[in-house]
Amino acid sequence: MDAIELLTTRQSDSNLSFPGPSVDQLEIIKKAALKVPDHGGLTPWKFIVVQGEGREKLGEIYHQAAVSENQDERTISRAKELTQRAPMIIIAVSPYQEHPKVPRIEQIESAACSVFAMQQAAFAQHLSGVWRTGYFAQSPKVKSLLGLNEQDEIVGYLYLGTPTVACTKPVRHKAETFFSDL
Ligand SMILES: Cc1cc2nc3c(=O)[nH]c(=O)nc-3n(C[C@H](O)[C@H](O)[C@H](O)COP(=O)(O)O)c2cc1C
Repeated sequence: MDAIELLTTRQSDSNLSFPGPSVDQLEIIKKAALKVPDHGGLTPWKFIVVQGEGREKLGEIYHQAAVSENQDERTISRAKELTQRAPMIIIAVSPYQEHPKVPRIEQIESAACSVFAMQQAAFAQHLSGVWRTGYFAQSPKVKSLLGLNEQDEIVGYLYLGTPTVACTKPVRHKAETFFSDL
């Protein structure tokens, strides 16, 4: 797949099966994560790779957080299942550092670029994935159980695996709707 095809056809997929990324594929995904724009060279990224038994551990963390933060019954009962939806999950974190020229949002933007770069690197290797957030990205309890600081931002959970069905989503957006000339 060439770069233009990747950039114009990338899509998300939540139906993910085994195998997840191989060791070599994961190396490429990691390299892509670290090759993103980064104002001030702050490297405002940290990534936690969850696979194998790690998926149960993350499910336990979700469950513990949902119970202790009084989430609704549905959130609590689904907590452990959520992490079984893909063979691998990469948690992307932006560890905030105070800086005179680089505000918090720019540090988060850089980490968000990493999530997208990793999804593209997976897609280019015929894997698939979906970027998820929601309550478990915002929960202070999840952050503390993952050993993160409260100021750190969980920018996303990138679920990765092998697509179960070949499907190409139609192009949804027209350029003229979003682009104009000055
Ligand atoms: C920051 C961010 C958070 C997201 N969180 C979720 C989520 O929690 N659950 C979900 O189903 N999709 C979520 N999405 C959307 C999917 O990742 C995906 O972009 C969407 O389903 C559209 O699919 P496409 O990438 O093939 O266009 C999120 C996207 C972004 C950018």
